[in-house]
Amino acid sequence: MPDDNRPRAVFLVGFMGAGKTSVGRVLAARLGWRFIDLDDRIEAREGRTVRDIFEQSSEAVFRKAESAELRALIDDLDRTPTVAALGGGAFVQPENTALLHESAAPTVFLDASVEILTDRCEPAVSARPLFRDHESFRALHDARRPVYLGATCRVDTAGKSIDAVADEIITTLGLQAESRDGQ
Ligand code: S3P
Repeated sequence: MPDDNRPRAVFLVGFMGAGKTSVGRVLAARLGWRFIDLDDRIEAREGRTVRDIFEQSSEAVFRKAESAELRALIDDLDRTPTVAALGGGAFVQPENTALLHESAAPTVFLDASVEILTDRCEPAVSARPLFRDHESFRALHDARRPVYLGATCRVDTAGKSIDAVADEIITTLGLQAESRDGQ
Protein backbone atom coordinates (compact mmCIF):
# COMPACT_ATOMS: atom_id res chain seq x y z
CA MET A 1 0.00 0.00 0.00
CA PRO A 2 1.19 3.59 -0.60
CA ASP A 3 2.29 5.72 2.39
CA ASP A 4 -0.75 8.00 2.22
CA ASN A 5 -4.22 6.86 3.17
CA ARG A 6 -5.73 7.31 -0.24
CA PRO A 7 -7.61 4.24 -1.47
CA ARG A 8 -6.06 2.05 -4.18
CA ALA A 9 -9.38 0.50 -5.19
CA VAL A 10 -12.92 1.74 -5.59
CA PHE A 11 -16.02 -0.44 -5.98
CA LEU A 12 -19.03 0.97 -7.79
CA VAL A 13 -22.34 -0.45 -6.63
CA GLY A 14 -25.99 0.23 -7.32
CA PHE A 15 -28.98 -1.05 -9.23
CA MET A 16 -29.12 -2.10 -12.89
CA GLY A 17 -28.82 1.01 -15.06
CA ALA A 18 -26.98 3.02 -12.40
CA GLY A 19 -24.06 3.59 -14.78
CA LYS A 20 -21.50 1.53 -12.88
CA THR A 21 -19.67 0.32 -15.99
CA SER A 22 -19.79 3.63 -17.91
CA VAL A 23 -18.71 5.69 -14.91
CA GLY A 24 -16.15 3.06 -13.91
CA ARG A 25 -14.38 3.23 -17.28
CA VAL A 26 -14.13 7.02 -17.16
CA LEU A 27 -13.10 7.06 -13.52
CA ALA A 28 -10.36 4.49 -14.12
CA ALA A 29 -9.06 6.46 -17.13
CA ARG A 30 -8.96 9.66 -15.07
CA LEU A 31 -7.07 7.96 -12.26
CA GLY A 32 -4.76 5.95 -14.52
CA TRP A 33 -6.05 2.77 -12.83
CA ARG A 34 -7.26 -0.47 -14.41
CA PHE A 35 -10.99 -1.01 -14.83
CA ILE A 36 -12.70 -4.30 -14.06
CA ASP A 37 -16.33 -5.16 -14.72
CA LEU A 38 -17.12 -8.11 -12.47
CA ASP A 39 -19.82 -9.45 -14.82
CA ASP A 40 -17.31 -9.48 -17.72
CA ARG A 41 -14.94 -11.52 -15.58
CA ILE A 42 -17.68 -13.98 -14.69
CA GLU A 43 -18.63 -14.35 -18.36
CA ALA A 44 -15.00 -14.89 -19.37
CA ARG A 45 -14.43 -17.52 -16.70
CA GLU A 46 -17.73 -19.31 -17.39
CA GLY A 47 -17.47 -18.99 -21.18
CA ARG A 48 -21.12 -17.88 -21.41
CA THR A 49 -23.17 -14.75 -20.87
CA VAL A 50 -24.80 -13.75 -17.60
CA ARG A 51 -28.18 -14.40 -19.20
CA ASP A 52 -27.11 -17.91 -20.20
CA ILE A 53 -25.86 -18.64 -16.69
CA PHE A 54 -29.27 -17.63 -15.31
CA GLU A 55 -31.18 -19.57 -17.99
CA GLN A 56 -29.06 -22.71 -18.38
CA SER A 57 -28.13 -22.98 -14.70
CA SER A 58 -29.74 -20.71 -12.12
CA GLU A 59 -29.40 -17.44 -10.26
CA ALA A 60 -27.81 -19.41 -7.39
CA VAL A 61 -25.05 -20.64 -9.73
CA PHE A 62 -24.51 -17.06 -10.92
CA ARG A 63 -24.28 -15.77 -7.32
CA LYS A 64 -21.70 -18.42 -6.47
CA ALA A 65 -19.59 -17.47 -9.49
CA GLU A 66 -20.02 -13.78 -8.60
CA SER A 67 -18.74 -14.27 -5.05
CA ALA A 68 -15.81 -16.39 -6.23
CA GLU A 69 -14.86 -13.74 -8.78
CA LEU A 70 -15.14 -10.95 -6.22
CA ARG A 71 -12.94 -12.87 -3.80
CA ALA A 72 -10.32 -13.45 -6.53
CA LEU A 73 -10.39 -9.76 -7.42
CA ILE A 74 -10.01 -8.62 -3.82
CA ASP A 75 -7.12 -11.06 -3.28
CA ASP A 76 -5.38 -9.41 -6.23
CA LEU A 77 -5.97 -5.77 -5.26
CA ASP A 78 -2.62 -5.03 -3.65
CA ARG A 79 -0.90 -5.36 -7.00
CA THR A 80 -2.79 -2.92 -9.19
CA PRO A 81 -4.96 0.09 -8.36
CA THR A 82 -8.43 -0.79 -9.56
CA VAL A 83 -11.86 0.63 -10.24
CA ALA A 84 -14.38 -2.24 -10.22
CA ALA A 85 -18.02 -2.18 -11.28
CA LEU A 86 -20.12 -4.79 -9.52
CA GLY A 87 -23.37 -6.23 -10.88
CA GLY A 88 -26.52 -4.86 -9.27
CA GLY A 89 -27.00 -7.84 -6.98
CA ALA A 90 -23.43 -8.27 -5.79
CA PHE A 91 -23.50 -5.73 -2.97
CA VAL A 92 -26.69 -7.10 -1.46
CA GLN A 93 -25.28 -10.60 -0.87
CA PRO A 94 -24.05 -10.63 2.77
CA GLU A 95 -21.04 -12.77 1.87
CA ASN A 96 -19.90 -10.14 -0.63
CA THR A 97 -20.57 -7.25 1.73
CA ALA A 98 -18.27 -8.94 4.25
CA LEU A 99 -15.55 -9.42 1.60
CA LEU A 100 -15.79 -5.78 0.56
CA HIS A 101 -15.65 -4.67 4.17
CA GLU A 102 -12.49 -6.74 4.71
CA SER A 103 -10.87 -5.19 1.64
CA ALA A 104 -11.29 -1.74 3.27
CA ALA A 105 -11.72 -0.22 -0.20
CA PRO A 106 -14.51 2.38 -0.49
CA THR A 107 -17.80 1.44 -2.10
CA VAL A 108 -19.67 4.11 -4.06
CA PHE A 109 -23.43 3.82 -4.51
CA LEU A 110 -24.54 5.32 -7.82
CA ASP A 111 -28.11 6.37 -7.12
CA ALA A 112 -30.99 7.33 -9.41
CA SER A 113 -34.77 7.09 -9.32
CA VAL A 114 -36.36 3.86 -10.48
CA GLU A 115 -37.90 5.75 -13.42
CA ILE A 116 -34.46 6.83 -14.64
CA LEU A 117 -33.05 3.33 -14.09
CA THR A 118 -35.93 1.81 -16.06
CA ASP A 119 -35.33 4.20 -18.97
CA ARG A 120 -31.63 3.42 -19.00
CA CYS A 121 -32.17 -0.36 -18.90
CA GLU A 122 -35.01 -0.67 -21.36
CA PRO A 123 -32.87 -0.52 -24.54
CA ALA A 124 -30.86 -3.54 -23.33
CA VAL A 125 -33.33 -5.69 -21.38
CA SER A 126 -32.18 -8.84 -23.14
CA ALA A 127 -28.81 -8.62 -21.38
CA ARG A 128 -30.48 -8.36 -17.97
CA PRO A 129 -32.25 -11.52 -16.83
CA LEU A 130 -33.63 -9.73 -13.76
CA PHE A 131 -35.40 -7.07 -15.80
CA ARG A 132 -38.67 -9.00 -16.22
CA ASP A 133 -41.29 -6.27 -16.02
CA HIS A 134 -41.66 -2.80 -14.55
CA GLU A 135 -43.39 -3.94 -11.40
CA SER A 136 -40.80 -6.53 -10.36
CA PHE A 137 -37.97 -4.16 -11.38
CA ARG A 138 -39.36 -1.51 -9.04
CA ALA A 139 -39.95 -4.01 -6.21
CA LEU A 140 -36.38 -5.33 -6.46
CA HIS A 141 -35.03 -1.78 -6.54
CA ASP A 142 -37.03 -0.76 -3.49
CA ALA A 143 -35.90 -3.85 -1.58
CA ARG A 144 -32.23 -3.30 -2.40
CA ARG A 145 -31.88 0.46 -2.08
CA PRO A 146 -31.56 0.44 1.75
CA VAL A 147 -28.65 -1.99 1.37
CA TYR A 148 -26.92 0.19 -1.26
CA LEU A 149 -27.21 3.08 1.19
CA GLY A 150 -24.73 1.18 3.39
CA ALA A 151 -21.97 1.94 0.86
CA THR A 152 -19.16 4.27 1.87
CA CYS A 153 -20.73 7.12 -0.08
CA ARG A 154 -23.66 7.87 -2.39
CA VAL A 155 -23.55 9.85 -5.60
CA ASP A 156 -26.82 11.01 -7.12
CA THR A 157 -26.45 10.50 -10.87
CA ALA A 158 -29.75 12.10 -11.95
CA GLY A 159 -29.18 14.73 -14.64
CA LYS A 160 -25.40 14.38 -14.46
CA SER A 161 -23.04 13.34 -17.23
CA ILE A 162 -20.78 10.32 -16.82
CA ASP A 163 -17.81 12.69 -16.59
CA ALA A 164 -19.49 14.74 -13.88
CA VAL A 165 -20.23 11.64 -11.82
CA ALA A 166 -16.61 10.44 -12.17
CA ASP A 167 -15.38 13.88 -11.05
CA GLU A 168 -17.69 13.83 -8.06
CA ILE A 169 -16.33 10.45 -6.96
CA ILE A 170 -12.74 11.72 -7.27
CA THR A 171 -13.55 14.77 -5.14
CA THR A 172 -15.62 12.89 -2.57
CA LEU A 173 -12.96 10.21 -2.02
CA GLY A 174 -10.02 12.63 -2.23
CA LEU A 175 -8.46 10.74 -5.15
CA GLN A 176 -5.73 12.08 -7.40
CA ALA A 177 -6.76 12.40 -11.06
CA GLU A 178 -4.00 11.89 -13.65
CA SER A 179 -5.89 13.49 -16.50
CA ARG A 180 -9.16 15.32 -16.95
CA ASP A 181 -10.10 13.69 -20.22
CA GLY A 182 -8.86 10.14 -19.73
CA GLN A 183 -6.42 10.49 -22.67
C1 S3P B 1 -27.93 -8.25 -11.63
C2 S3P B 1 -27.40 -7.19 -12.35
C3 S3P B 1 -26.58 -7.39 -13.55
C4 S3P B 1 -25.94 -8.76 -13.55
C5 S3P B 1 -26.97 -9.82 -13.31
C6 S3P B 1 -27.69 -9.67 -11.98
C7 S3P B 1 -28.75 -7.96 -10.43
O1 S3P B 1 -25.56 -6.39 -13.63
O2 S3P B 1 -24.95 -8.86 -12.57
O3 S3P B 1 -27.89 -9.77 -14.38
O4 S3P B 1 -28.94 -8.87 -9.60
O5 S3P B 1 -29.17 -6.80 -10.28
P1 S3P B 1 -25.86 -4.82 -13.93
O6 S3P B 1 -26.20 -4.17 -12.62
O7 S3P B 1 -24.55 -4.33 -14.47
O8 S3P B 1 -26.95 -4.77 -14.93
